[in-house]
Amino acid sequence: MRLKGKNLIVTGGASGIGLATAERALQEGASVVLADLEQGDGAQRARALDGRHGGRCLFVPADVGDTAQADALVAPTVEALGSVDVVFNNAGIGGMAPAVDYRDEDFLRTIDINLTGVFRVARAALRQMYRQGAGSIVNNASILGVLGQTQTAAYSAAKGGVINLTRTLALEAAAHGVRGNAVAPGYIDTPLIAELPREQREALVRLHPLGRLGRDVEVAHAVVFLGSDEASFITGAYLLVDGGYAAGKS
Ligand code: NAI
Repeated sequence: MRLKGKNLIVTGGASGIGLATAERALQEGASVVLADLEQGDGAQRARALDGRHGGRCLFVPADVGDTAQADALVAPTVEALGSVDVVFNNAGIGGMAPAVDYRDEDFLRTIDINLTGVFRVARAALRQMYRQGAGSIVNNASILGVLGQTQTAAYSAAKGGVINLTRTLALEAAAHGVRGNAVAPGYIDTPLIAELPREQREALVRLHPLGRLGRDVEVAHAVVFLGSDEASFITGAYLLVDGGYAAGKS
């Protein structure tokens, strides 16, 4: 069991990649705090997973766009589970528009959730991990943090920021026994992209040499690995989980 006895916080844990990662972590012996927006179905999802694989699964409502709520994720985790061993910074939003049409408020909102949100939760977790002298942070970037794509000015800027933020956090945290890495998924079949018209989905499929979109659990496997002690000499890295998307482009 890769995460036996470890306690995770998964932001955006009520859906898609976050939920799949929570379940994989539980299967690997962990306990999990699912953090997500209060109005979603995180509480119900956590109840359904609590105890199913042996570990605890608790819901803590938190908007990563709010510093106080990000800070307030750590104390209940430590209180209920004893430590914060792994954080998966996964909460994120989409959004597309040509750069010339992007409104300030939409651009800033995407940066605030997808980049500053990662920073807020990482900062809160690192304070605890430094006290523990151990921990591992995995940030969910994107293939669009590595490659550009039209109509994604805010999203790709945020995700590129996540990759370089990850490197800097890894450098600062190393002396404290804490690692930091990122995953960079290609297009994954989750609610985030479920509503795209069929032609657009087919165009996305063609971007991946493996000939399909990814599955949420395929990202979860990578997160579990990076979070676990099997990745004990890996820090400051990003792992592509992209069906070969970047292979012909970088
Ligand atoms: P999803 O829409 O299924 O899940 C996102 C979750 O984040 C939702 O439960 C939502 O309520 C939560 N969330 C949104 N704003 C939040 C906030 N302010 N505070 C706390 N929680 C918040 O989407 P999916 O696809 O699972 O995305 C998860 C992450 O993976 C995102 O960061 C996304 O950018 C990234 N990603 C997704 C890809 C895809 O193709 N689906 C590809 C590459 C990266």
